[in-house]
Amino acid sequence: MPLSNMDFEFYESEDPIWNPALMTIPIPGIRKMVNLASQLDDVIHLSIGQPDLPTPQNVVNAAVEAMQRGQTGYTMDAGLPELLESLAIYYGERYNRTLNPENIMITTGATEALYLAITAVSAPGRHFIVPDPAFMLYSPLIRMNGGEVTEIPTRAENNHQIDPDEVIDAIEPHTYGIILNSPSNPTGTVYPRETLEKIVEEAAYRGIQIISDEVYDHLIYDGKTYPSVLSCCSDLDHVMVVSSFSKTYSMAGMRIGWLIGSQGAIKKLRRYHMFTTTVANTPCQWAGVEALHGSNDFIHYMLDEYTKRRDRLVELVDQTPHLTGYKPEGAFYLFPSLPEGANGTNVALRLLKETGVCTIPGETFGSSCNNSLRLSYSTSMENIEKSFERIIPWMEQQDFD
Ligand SMILES: Cc1ncc(COP(=O)(O)O)c(C=O)c1O
Repeated sequence: MPLSNMDFEFYESEDPIWNPALMTIPIPGIRKMVNLASQLDDVIHLSIGQPDLPTPQNVVNAAVEAMQRGQTGYTMDAGLPELLESLAIYYGERYNRTLNPENIMITTGATEALYLAITAVSAPGRHFIVPDPAFMLYSPLIRMNGGEVTEIPTRAENNHQIDPDEVIDAIEPHTYGIILNSPSNPTGTVYPRETLEKIVEEAAYRGIQIISDEVYDHLIYDGKTYPSVLSCCSDLDHVMVVSSFSKTYSMAGMRIGWLIGSQGAIKKLRRYHMFTTTVANTPCQWAGVEALHGSNDFIHYMLDEYTKRRDRLVELVDQTPHLTGYKPEGAFYLFPSLPEGANGTNVALRLLKETGVCTIPGETFGSSCNNSLRLSYSTSMENIEKSFERIIPWMEQQDFD
């Protein structure tokens, strides 16, 4: 169904047939903008949340060849053994720690892994800590299961870095989980090792689960080494790390992700996984094996390309009246803020209608950032240039006082 025909009233329906827990799922802000954009001509999208580069050919071929070999049935519930083995070796080498295939479960994208991890821990009376802004899945999933959320606000002026002391101060006796996402969607912020170590150590001491969403773990710029939670924890007892091939190999539609945790956690979640999606897509798991064993040229190419775009976007945001930017170190987003009190949703809607540039309003990602916009640079340099040829003169005419 084309996006423009989707019925958004449905999400707002109070029809008693639906489980009231569904009311915790917000009206999807991204879809609203993309829908509106689809009705307009000559729109430039700074709204896209997936790589714009084609999937490497060897990866596509591996999925096709797997199907031709008859690899079209279910795999074992934890995932294709060859992929589990390959991931264990790959992570072991990357972070210099021993992982067994029994520490990993393959899921339908990182989304399923997050769904399983969060809903397996959240319950009425349990408290969670989530950064704000954050990827829009976390808080609704916690609340759907009765959990409460404390959001820790971050600011453009501070590169949207999270203050580990604020996280630790927010811990309560009934805190069960802390969600981390570095590099972050929507801010592109990479948390330094000291931040992660401080939070992870405190969480382990207090028996709180860290759920770390690391889907952008390869989109790290300026030659920096990526601080994964996996390289900041002494054991996996209180840690679940989620990632996928979606961003790293431009495989978002192939839907292969995974969860890494203690063997006990994986055992528990495997049963839950069988009750949700059974197993992940088999041919695409073979594509994942190829991605891990094939050349890294694609990742290097993507990093070069996105670094150039990020640098230019940072310059353009700096030149734009009323926008406060910063230099994100990862992912492909920049989350600049408008002046205090400006309504980001109105600005995004007017910007789209009056200039044809589609951005995502900050309130999609949390309650502390209504005056922000998410700009994605997963689009060509030409589109980035063209969009600011429209944004800058438009902003010059605005008055936010
Ligand atoms: C932070 C974050 N986590 C998870 C996901 C979902 O990833 P996947 O496509 O592997 O389900 C996304 C997708 O945009 C994301 O930005």
